[in-house]
Amino acid sequence: LTQLGVFGNPIEHSLSPRIHSLFAQAQQEHVNYQRYLATSGRFSRSVAQFFCHGGRGANVTLPFKQDAARLVTQLTERAQLAGAVNTLISSKSGQLVGDNTDGEGLAIDLENKGFKVSGRSLTIFGAGGSARGILPLLLAQQPKHLYLINRTVEKAEALKSELKALGLAEANLVQVLSSASAIEEPVELLINATSSSLTGQCLTLPPILADDACGYDLMYAAKPTVFMHQLTQVGCKKVSDGLGMLVEQAASSYQLWMGGERPDTTSVMSELRKSS
Ligand code: ATR
Repeated sequence: LTQLGVFGNPIEHSLSPRIHSLFAQAQQEHVNYQRYLATSGRFSRSVAQFFCHGGRGANVTLPFKQDAARLVTQLTERAQLAGAVNTLISSKSGQLVGDNTDGEGLAIDLENKGFKVSGRSLTIFGAGGSARGILPLLLAQQPKHLYLINRTVEKAEALKSELKALGLAEANLVQVLSSASAIEEPVELLINATSSSLTGQCLTLPPILADDACGYDLMYAAKPTVFMHQLTQVGCKKVSDGLGMLVEQAASSYQLWMGGERPDTTSVMSELRKSS
């Protein structure tokens, strides 16, 4: 029986145990995937305990992704670029490796939905752990511009500087702003990577959206988020929540832990939509 799990706070509503059980069922593998509620003082001890007791791998979610990056003995390149870890892997030599599958999960889901990144004008809201996870992969797809909006503008500036210092050439495509109201060109893809949807708060949208603009909220909830409502109200026709990203990042993590084939995500997504 392979021991897997997810660490976070809050954690009780996490869909990850359900998603990974569905993957295991489909692949005919024996997996025990549990939720672990961590507190900020005890996060590293909880993780160490889990791996000491034979854990193969774990996900890390809000608010510990950056702590997890500091905890591991080895970071993959994309986790290093993100400065955040959502996937912990116990290597054969007993080392703890930190990876980040968030960006890949989002990129796959955007592609599935036909939300183009390359050559487009992007607005990303947020400069926390979630934004860090997705930025390197979005930049790698060469958008025309990437406006990085954060109410604490220094945090977004710091994130851009870090990406530059790590040698990511595309970091020059990033333009940092404290509000989207200053964007002058029509925006083609808007991504909410803040935690505003958790508290149901509105964001200031860019003044002009392209006719075929697409919107994506990294958050998933049973009902459309406030950000999705805001976009629909201003005429944006293609709006998505983060269920696809959640399932795709999980599939990438599952494959890293278990080897073998990438689990099929379509059936898992329709299963989750049915029961929400
Ligand atoms: P996560 O891991 O989800 O990114 P985080 O690291 O705590 O969590 O970051 C939360 C992000 O959401 C931050 O960019 C935060 O903005 P600040 O840096 O200014 O705090 C953003 N955020 C949270 N609530 C928000 C709101 N109501 N409006 C705008 N931005 C918000």
